[in-house]
Amino acid sequence: MRPARVAIFASGTGSNAMALIAKAQELSKEKIEIAFILSDKPAAPVLEKAKNAGVRTYLVEKKADRKAHEAEVLSLLHEYHVDWIFLAGYMRLLSADFIQRFRQWHEGAEQIVNIHPSLLPAYPGVDSIARAFSDSVKESGVTLHLVDEGMDTGRILVQEIVCRSQDSTLPAWTQQFHEVEHRLYSQFLENVALGRQPTVYFKETP
Ligand code: GRF
Repeated sequence: MRPARVAIFASGTGSNAMALIAKAQELSKEKIEIAFILSDKPAAPVLEKAKNAGVRTYLVEKKADRKAHEAEVLSLLHEYHVDWIFLAGYMRLLSADFIQRFRQWHEGAEQIVNIHPSLLPAYPGVDSIARAFSDSVKESGVTLHLVDEGMDTGRILVQEIVCRSQDSTLPAWTQQFHEVEHRLYSQFLENVALGRQPTVYFKETP
């Protein structure tokens, strides 16, 4: 059995991507492989960080034509026989066609996941932590979920609460979210590597 092959999509800082890379490097190469990091933004710091960590990177820049952009991304996934996509701050929605095509390579299995800093369905989309903070909520949290074509709407796999103390500042609270995100996402990657989360391997379809 070959290693489960993962592609990470990220558009920004890449702290989650780097936590996933660190976990993969700690695990056996026979069990898990990061095929590449893909970004749609040339200036995304994640590209440099991943390169420095010895991981292959691709930049597929935003195009006016979404279909053409996704076709380029799909051809990379096809080339590397990718089994799982981990979204880590990828600021684009994937189309239903893209998701369907990826599923066809895995006998219909849902193998695209995302990490989001709220207890979905609360606070989907951008600035979730800041919006929850300005609503003075007592707690919010982190959600790991499957990805469909909606905005943070796929089936929830794991959620963990992040409490907010009265004197907490936004930067301090944000830091708490990131710590939980990195831990939950790395754990999920480890589950994939160890087969606790089963993988349907890429298979060519006509
Ligand atoms: C994280 O908060 C993640 O939950 C959200 O986007 C942010 C990405 O941060 N989807 P980073 O680039 O991984 O640091």
